[in-house]
Parts: sequence; C-alpha cells; structure tokens
Amino acid sequence: MRLIIGKPLGFCFGVKRAIDELEKALKKYGNIYALGSPIHNEEEVKRLKSLGLRLVESVEELPSQSIVFIRAHGTTPEVLKQAKHKGCTIIDGTCPSVKNAQEKARLLSEEGYEVVIVGDPNHPEVQSIKGCVSAYASVINSSKDVATFPNKDKIGVVSQTTQEEGALLSVVSALVPKARELRVYNTICKATLHRQEAVRKLAADTEGVIVIGGHNSTNTAKLVEVAKREGCDVLWIANPQEIDESWLYGKHIIGIAAGASTPDWLIKEVISLLSRR
Ligand code: F3S
Repeated sequence: MRLIIGKPLGFCFGVKRAIDELEKALKKYGNIYALGSPIHNEEEVKRLKSLGLRLVESVEELPSQSIVFIRAHGTTPEVLKQAKHKGCTIIDGTCPSVKNAQEKARLLSEEGYEVVIVGDPNHPEVQSIKGCVSAYASVINSSKDVATFPNKDKIGVVSQTTQEEGALLSVVSALVPKARELRVYNTICKATLHRQEAVRKLAADTEGVIVIGGHNSTNTAKLVEVAKREGCDVLWIANPQEIDESWLYGKHIIGIAAGASTPDWLIKEVISLLSRR
C-alpha cells in the first residue's frame, strides 16, 4: 500500500502557538485552568491534562487568583473581565486570525453595520466573535437561513475562520438584495483554505483518504466534507485504534490528511502503523 501525505497537515500556526504557550505556562506554574477544551482533540487534551491542565466550563468554576488559559478560539471581553475580577492571571492563546475576526466585527458594529457572522452559532470561536460586538450580531450558517433575515440599510459580514469559501460566498450572495450597503471581511484563515485544497488534491490522486482529527473538531469535519464532495471514499479517525481494516481492503493508494488541531505525534502514530502493513 502506498501512502500520500497531504501538505500542509496537522497543527496550524494558531494552534501550535497556543499549545506552545500552554506548555510553557504548565512548566512554570504547574496547574493551569482552561476555560473549555483548549483544543478539539481528545488525545492531545489527555496529554495536556497529564501535565497539569484542568478544564472548567465557566468563569464561576475558576478558583480566584488562578492561572487561566484562553484557547485559540478566543473568548469574550465579558469573560476576560470576570476572570480578571477574580484576580486570575490570563495566558492568552487566542489565534491572531480569530482576533482579527473579532476586531473586524467590533469595527463594523461601531460603524453602524448590522453584523452577520457566517458560521456555526454553537462554536466557541463564533461566540467569542459575537461577544466582541456591543450591539446584536446574527449568526448565519447557510444561505437558506438568509430568507428570514430582515432588510437593513447596512450589513457587515465576517466569517468563522474555519468556514469554507463557498459557504461564505453563497451567504454573501443571498444577502445582496437585503442591504443598501454590504461590507464583507473575508476572515477565513489561510491555514484552513490550504488544508482544504490539500485534501481536494488527495481526493483526486488516491483511492481513499484517511482524515485524522477529533470528532468534535469543526475544521476536521470540513476536511471530511470537502473530500466526500469530491466523490472520495473517506475514513475519519480520531486515533490509530479507529483504523478500519475493512475500509483499507483492496485499496493501494491512500491519502493522509489531518485537521489543524491534530498533533504531529498522533499523525506519526497513524502513518507508522499504516506503513508497517
Ligand atoms: Fe488560527 Fe486558522 Fe488555526 S484561525 S487556530 S490559524 S485554523
């Protein structure tokens, strides 16, 4: 069996930067509290927990004076204010691309635009962007949801950083008749686009693609979606134990892709297991 490794794959610069900061802080302080899972990859979270990471879901659960890590998806100014009020020290792992989307949404709102965020309303990054807008911001996940959106004078659009360009384009086109003025910031990050292009290429060049990444990872789910849309046979695994022998059967050329939140050590484990076959 021949393996073709997609490029780029695995940690994007934002996740790498956040995890490096977190590891440095764990070495320095011992115990660190993370507000929500620091990364959508169960295997990596297990490893970080073994180094002293503790997970909490809300500011209320944070002990006062504790050290708090903000994940790459960012958080809202309100949460930061509450944590500081408790005397917590903040280690900010927010990805610069997420900060850019937050900032653009805030500016649009200040300039009187009705803010629309194209993305998943339940995703922590989208909630962090929404929290940076002082007025109300709408979250739209697909062009179908635009039908019920009211007409406005000025609409300003930003996107979840891991969105597909096609999805952003179709929402923006559907919004054109809804506004006299429409301003769009394409805040999709390049790391996401490059990984989606890589998986498209793998889908064309192989008999099947294995996508490695947490089952709760949006950017990994998008890679799976992109490959399936190309008509490719896809196996989504979170760890080497999920490799399905019956899926491998009869395939001679397999592509390997991984989400932006998949650590190198996990990708290497999968590749080494498959290479020994
Ligand atoms: Fe940042 Fe893009 Fe990664 S937003 S966390 S560089 S996928």
